[in-house]
Amino acid sequence: MKQLIFENPESLAKAAAQSFGELAQEAITSRGRFNVALAGGSTPKVIYEKLAILPLPWAQIHFFWGDERLVPITDSRSNYRMVFEALLEKIQIPPENVHRVQTRLETEMENHVLLQGDHFLTTTTAPSGLGRKGLPYKKPFAVGEGLVPSLPFTDSDFEHILKSYITELEGLQFDLIHLGLGTDGHMASLFPATNLEMNALAQLTFPTAGLEPQVQRISLSLQTINAARVKQFFVTGTSKKPILEQIRNGVDYPAAQVQNAQWWLDQAASTDE
Ligand code: 6PG
Repeated sequence: MKQLIFENPESLAKAAAQSFGELAQEAITSRGRFNVALAGGSTPKVIYEKLAILPLPWAQIHFFWGDERLVPITDSRSNYRMVFEALLEKIQIPPENVHRVQTRLETEMENHVLLQGDHFLTTTTAPSGLGRKGLPYKKPFAVGEGLVPSLPFTDSDFEHILKSYITELEGLQFDLIHLGLGTDGHMASLFPATNLEMNALAQLTFPTAGLEPQVQRISLSLQTINAARVKQFFVTGTSKKPILEQIRNGVDYPAAQVQNAQWWLDQAASTDE
């Protein structure tokens, strides 16, 4: 288990942002673009906030998500919304570089909402490319301002959303995948009870009882994650110590099945005193 131990989450985040920049530069020099899948949850937010202030070649960087909760992007549980607030709304990036899971809100209403505090303004008229405040959006769209209603999802929605995300993944190799670690050993949205679909690029999953949020998920498959050039886990806080110890002792959780992963830990999570 390749471990990098940092004094605290702040120093880990700074180093992770630096590593992102180096890996991006190498990929762009070698292959012309950098494909990265971002993690959800709370740990990586500080990393993404630090990325936002780096002068990176955003036009050659393509963002995907390792997993997403199937809620509208206006929902505070959305992993897209977390990245939008920490990073995307602060940088100038071509909208076609943001490959988010197209939740029904967009397919239903074909819109990209702009976040402003707790209110969601929908694009009214804006030049093509980047919308107001440099926010990525795919097409202008005349709808009034105000809170965008959340929509109930149906099973056929889930299948539709999965198919559209898989289309974005076809033929792609990730240069970097960011991962978090759940206290139950899950990573992305692959839980211990998940039936890992070995020949899929991504799959629908549902969290184990008691794991929040209890909503349908889409996750990159273990196969897709293992095919990435670099896999980085970010694990901080004493709550993750027990599960890390079990993984070190060989318990075969989903997170333990990621081959040649880098484990970026803070002191609180690491058993090395
Ligand atoms: C999600 C994440 C999930 C997360 C872990 C750790 O959508 O919930 O992708 O895999 O990384 O649960 O979450 P924390 O970083 O909040 O501890």
